[in-house]
Amino acid sequence: MLTGKTAIVTGASRGIGAAIARKLCEAGSNVVICSRSDEAVAAIADALNSEGYTAISTAADISRKGDVEALVKTTLGRFSQIDILVNNAGITRDTLLMRLKDEDWDAVLQTNLTGTMYCTRAVLRPMIRQRSGRIINISSVIGVMGNPGQASYAAAKAGILGFTKTIAREVGVRGITVNAIAPGFITTDMTAQIPEQHQNQLLDLIPLRRFGGPEDVADAVCFLASDAARYITGQTLHVDGGMVM
Ligand SMILES: NC(=O)c1ccc[n+]([C@@H]2O[C@H](COP(=O)([O-])OP(=O)(O)OC[C@H]3O[C@@H](n4cnc5c(N)ncnc54)[C@H](OP(=O)(O)O)[C@@H]3O)[C@@H](O)[C@H]2O)c1
Repeated sequence: MLTGKTAIVTGASRGIGAAIARKLCEAGSNVVICSRSDEAVAAIADALNSEGYTAISTAADISRKGDVEALVKTTLGRFSQIDILVNNAGITRDTLLMRLKDEDWDAVLQTNLTGTMYCTRAVLRPMIRQRSGRIINISSVIGVMGNPGQASYAAAKAGILGFTKTIAREVGVRGITVNAIAPGFITTDMTAQIPEQHQNQLLDLIPLRRFGGPEDVADAVCFLASDAARYITGQTLHVDGGMVM
């Protein structure tokens, strides 16, 4: 389905990003994966390569423009093309707005929103040259609905939706699609700290009555990256068990 394609997946050392990298490999793509931790992301690449897939890893902090440029250079140096970018890396620094520190607001916006912009901007030139490309931005149900204690995260994830629509309009004529996925509550390290009582309350908001798994998001990424999604751009795909409808 994605045979011979090359994909960059940011934040792929664990959780949703690692699942996306695996599903893209299973669909036939080569992957270049990054996270800030060299060792953790190398372990994911090693596991994929040992199964016969083609994965290379590199330490890159997407909140730093220089790291992003190096990531793209590495990818082009190895594969000469970039067909798919999955902007997945993200962080939380949750607290009520009254207690929110400027540096926490800045860190969340710089990683989740500015980092997404850096990566997207950096792949546009090669994608325009190829006259094709798929950009998939991982937003969140929180960016759609809001959530007390997550002002910075919600602002960044909502920003990703406006960014997605704008870039979709800018580059559609070049054969590039740009879409967002808004996952609901997915079982990963990011959601592991939610107290059990709160988890039970959240289940009442989910028509399918369960948290999602990383592979639920990864399957949606593979669809948007595939030829089957060729006439879809500027959209938000909600992978949330029905929380938003
Ligand atoms: N889990 C959920 O319920 C849920 C719901 C909606 C949306 N999402 C979104 O889905 C994405 C993945 O979430 P997750 O639950 O898999 O989170 P996670 O388990 O915390 O993993 C986050 C990944 O991003 C990497 N990362 C963080 N900051 C980075 C940076 N500056 N540069 C490069 N990599 C960075 C992390 O590795 P290092 O720490 O080594 O850098 C890790 O690989 C995030 O964008 C998140 O906001 C998650």
